[in-house]
Amino acid sequence: MSGHGQEHLRILLRRGAIQRRIRELGGQITKDFKGQRVHLIGVLKGASIFLSDLIRQIHLEVSLDFMAVSSYGHDKQSSGQVRLTKDLDTSIEGLNVILVEDILDTGLTLSYIQRVLMQRRPRVLRIAALLDKPERRIKEVKADYIGFQIPNEFVVGYGLDYAERYRNLKDVCILSMPPK
Ligand code: IMP
Ligand code: MG
Repeated sequence: MSGHGQEHLRILLRRGAIQRRIRELGGQITKDFKGQRVHLIGVLKGASIFLSDLIRQIHLEVSLDFMAVSSYGHDKQSSGQVRLTKDLDTSIEGLNVILVEDILDTGLTLSYIQRVLMQRRPRVLRIAALLDKPERRIKEVKADYIGFQIPNEFVVGYGLDYAERYRNLKDVCILSMPPK
């Protein structure tokens, strides 16, 4: 597949494999919370595509909210300083919350969000991440539902962006850049 300019895309996870895995994750969540209600919180914007597929594979009473954070810094790397840019619409006190993220990389973003949400006393707080790059971890974060562990490569597609582009790709692709 070809990217913009000299950027090059190589498929890492095909759309069919992604959908199959999300069906499994939805099945697992449905089983784990049988007879209960779950409250999904999507982290904008990257998780929006994953969330929209995942929520339809959860066969329970489900409600939905979003939050947004921005990590200061460069396009490809989070600096570790995280700021809440959009807060939740409603209280999560006493709810079974599942935080839905696109990718767990250094863990800095998720550990920040986890800390913020735990202060609001949910009944439980679980984490679902489509992708996990364990090699890059700086902050230990325990994710309960992980789609795929991937190597230390920069990926785009299926919600993930590079400078806001490529979120619309149906597959998850490795993005390589021309040498500067
Ligand atoms: P963390 O704080 O390093 O765990 O970074 C998490 C955030 O960094 C994700 O929500 C993504 O927005 C972004 N990110 C990390 N790795 C990638 C990648 O390979 N492609 C696109 N975005 C990424
Ligand atoms: Mg991003």
